[in-house]
Amino acid sequence: MTMNKGDEVLNQFTPQQQQAAVDTSRRLKVGIIGTGWIAESHIKSYLNMPDADVVAMADLIPGKAEAFAEKFGVKNCRFYPDHKSMLEHEQLDAVSVCTYNVTHAQCTIDALDAGVNVLLEKPMCVTTQEAVDIIRAEKRSGKLLSIGFQPRMDANMQMIKKIVQSGQLGEIYYIQTGGGRRRGIPNSTFIEKKTAGIGALGDIGCYSLDMVLNAIGYPRPLTVSGYTSDFFGTSYEYSLPENASRFNVDDFAAAFIRLEGGIILDFRISWAMHLDTPGDTVILGKKGALRIPSTECWNGTVGGPMTLYTDVAGVQTQTTIPILPNKGPGLFDKKIRSFLDAIKNGEAAPVPSDQILINQAIIDAIGQSAQLHREIEVVIPEI
Ligand SMILES: NC(=O)c1ccc[n+]([C@@H]2O[C@H](COP(=O)([O-])OP(=O)(O)OC[C@H]3O[C@@H](n4cnc5c(N)ncnc54)[C@H](O)[C@@H]3O)[C@@H](O)[C@H]2O)c1
Repeated sequence: MTMNKGDEVLNQFTPQQQQAAVDTSRRLKVGIIGTGWIAESHIKSYLNMPDADVVAMADLIPGKAEAFAEKFGVKNCRFYPDHKSMLEHEQLDAVSVCTYNVTHAQCTIDALDAGVNVLLEKPMCVTTQEAVDIIRAEKRSGKLLSIGFQPRMDANMQMIKKIVQSGQLGEIYYIQTGGGRRRGIPNSTFIEKKTAGIGALGDIGCYSLDMVLNAIGYPRPLTVSGYTSDFFGTSYEYSLPENASRFNVDDFAAAFIRLEGGIILDFRISWAMHLDTPGDTVILGKKGALRIPSTECWNGTVGGPMTLYTDVAGVQTQTTIPILPNKGPGLFDKKIRSFLDAIKNGEAAPVPSDQILINQAIIDAIGQSAQLHREIEVVIPEI
């Protein structure tokens, strides 16, 4: 099983040491597509990079990109009313696609076709077909595409993969994963199909899937039996009245997924429910098991010390894996730095699209199966 660049522990250096190691003789011209909430984390990180200049921004809402640039003190930047006009007029090395989910595919495909490297926010997109179309554009462009899963940079997430790959658990046969919030529906573009396409599944479900699938090497899904509901989002008791009336995505999902290699993946995700968490993540292998505590507000972080269960010389033992500190720059800085380094050094994407295609195919299949009220086969078109 291969390690990705994003799996390497990038945290042994201080921010000063890391910046000193950057070759500033080659500067990268960066554009930001979509200047909403998550773009704030991108711009803050780009401003920390000594070799990146954010020279262009685009947003569909008039004046939004200009106000965004002013808020973060970005000078010498040009503004555009949409991503297409930005790509037409600028010679960029890279863009961050920070739009809501339904425009991820078009913005990414257009940027790749314009010869620009792309850091695409999670979830990759909305449907499997869109993910396939994105990867086809990546291949024909020869440009770099990385998907914005910053939990991959977390030392604790990396530890999960190291434990699985060390063989301590033996052959994996069952995984339970997911996460939840008792009340945690975002008050944003996340709650409508016309902007988000999918709800909790795309917002936080993709993190739970990536946590375990990356650890086991992203085997392909074979069948999915999925369920989704929207009881809280559409409820006038639990939502703001204006949100309840427009809420039309999932706020809860569960699925039973069969993966290649005879592995069962039992999944649940929730933005809101009458419970704090739908349970810890557990990975069961023939020689050992790992318990990864959940958090009360799931957003892709390990919630506490993990426990490794193994038999030692016939004695059942438990080992506590302490929470590991993330030294050096923050996870977002690491996400941006690893993207820029991969461009400059001609390296593979820190979070490769062919892995996240599988994440997306599972999410899409959960939605389809839920609509059909039955198990479905997962078919991923050839790239
Ligand atoms: N990595 C993380 O931790 C994290 C956290 C939150 C959100 N996200 C992801 O970031 C994305 C954006 O979320 P957000 O909360 O910032 O949304 P948002 O609605 O606040 O911002 C999106 C912006 O994109 C603009 N836009 C849409 N299509 C465009 C186009 N074609 N050209 C130019 N601008 C366009 C919209 O006008 C809007 O201003 C989502 O996919 C979300 O899942 C990631």
